[in-house]
Amino acid sequence: MSNKESWGSRIGLILAMAGNAVGLGNFLRFPVQAVQNGGGAFIIPYLVCFLVMGIPLLFIEWSMGRFGGRKGHHSTPFILDSMDPKRVFWKYIGVFGIFTNLVVAAYYCYLESWTLAYIWHSINGSFTGLSAIEIASFFNNYTALSDGAIETIFFWILCLVLNTWILSKGLSGGVEKAAKIGMPLLILFGILLAIKGITLKAGSEGALFDGFVGLNFLWTPNFDSIWSAKVWLAAAGQIFFTLSVGMGTIQCYASYVKSKDDIALNAMTAGWMNEFVEVLLGSSILIPISIGYLGIDKVVELTQSGGLGLGFRTLPYLFQQWGDVISVAAGVAWFGLLFFAGITSSLAMGTPCMGFLMDEFGWKRKTSAWAFGITILILGLPTVLFFNHGVFDEYDYWAGTVSLVVFALAEIILFAWIFGMDKGWKEINLGADIKVPTIFRFLIQFVTPLMLGWVFIASLPDIWSKINNIDIKAKIAASTNLTEIAELNTQMNYLNGSRVLLLGIFVAISYLVYVAYQKRIKEGRKTA
Ligand code: ALA
Repeated sequence: MSNKESWGSRIGLILAMAGNAVGLGNFLRFPVQAVQNGGGAFIIPYLVCFLVMGIPLLFIEWSMGRFGGRKGHHSTPFILDSMDPKRVFWKYIGVFGIFTNLVVAAYYCYLESWTLAYIWHSINGSFTGLSAIEIASFFNNYTALSDGAIETIFFWILCLVLNTWILSKGLSGGVEKAAKIGMPLLILFGILLAIKGITLKAGSEGALFDGFVGLNFLWTPNFDSIWSAKVWLAAAGQIFFTLSVGMGTIQCYASYVKSKDDIALNAMTAGWMNEFVEVLLGSSILIPISIGYLGIDKVVELTQSGGLGLGFRTLPYLFQQWGDVISVAAGVAWFGLLFFAGITSSLAMGTPCMGFLMDEFGWKRKTSAWAFGITILILGLPTVLFFNHGVFDEYDYWAGTVSLVVFALAEIILFAWIFGMDKGWKEINLGADIKVPTIFRFLIQFVTPLMLGWVFIASLPDIWSKINNIDIKAKIAASTNLTEIAELNTQMNYLNGSRVLLLGIFVAISYLVYVAYQKRIKEGRKTA
């Protein structure tokens, strides 16, 4: 077996894990989710979800990973299997931990590639002198492939090649190095932009409001919507996405930790570092600057339509108000920080798939890295070509939202109730450099599974309406415009097509797991 890697140093592991968590979700998704869900109304459910679901899941996933790694497993199908070898189905539940990474990486790398293009355009002055509307249409044209298909595809492929190349260099030689360079730069750029965002003054540099107006909007607690299931679901979804829990990446990274090394303090350090970046930096850039120039109402309106693009549609124009030199520096800092945030997360998405190929089929690291790169190219193509038909969002919904909750629910049941809380608690505390508060034992066993179960059940109506395209059908029924009806029907076909594709991927990975299992039986290799 060629898969005998390990982390070069503890700081490298922590930075890689933090890099896995800190991503585009912190800077683009979090502020938009917060605005869409009422600003201050979002933050209480968000923090509760972090404490009650996020932290327990971090403990579980780190310890599951180290447990599986001790037995030579580096991806969730056989990590889960080794925790309950008597039942055959866990390895198929573990398919989620590969599926999610492949599908999220497929659209995530495309988003990541926009940051490269925007760094380039910030440097060569493409945005200079353009109006707000022109800059917004620049983004629309870029993603619609209308006048820059070659450029869009070039940056996308460049991004895929970079990911693949770093992955092929190995954990300590590639992933860890990228995190050691990327994380400090990201934090530096983030702090510089956050200072600029917070100190924005109404009346100077063309700003209409102080930076504090946006911050107050985000942080003034508002208890009105605390009972709204929608806000809680959004908060839980953001916690899952930002911490990368329920994905399978944490288990994979932790499977390369030495068998008695600490995981408890490591998990907390990486998890809290993510929250520091999200809550302090993530909320001090995009929203304060946008609200400073556009006002609360306009920003709320902009986030309602296509949230993730906000940082691309508006900021290059707003940066220009700071003069020629600073606008270039701010563009490079903003899109540079997004790039580092993105790549340290997409690299993490590559490792479980590679771990699986190396463990089960004896593939070399390089071959596995290229297999991942090519798969992402094929799976990502529909998100690039049919972005405007909603394929990108569809991938995000199923893989970046629903799958995380389903998988997290399954793994907590396995960990707390089948593997058993006595063994589980011992695993968490083995080699721990901190004393994990006993309350977490209770949370892991009772509260987190119940919360997860509730999140899942409360999401069912939305899942059902998605599957049945209820919203689009309602729009079709309400419209009398034949062109619009035809467009909506086409969109529905694209969405149905993406779902069939995603299902096909899940089935294909399950089949590979089945083949790997048969191979193990033949070779007499046990999983536990
Ligand atoms: N956790 C990663 C992010 O926040 C996926 O973007």
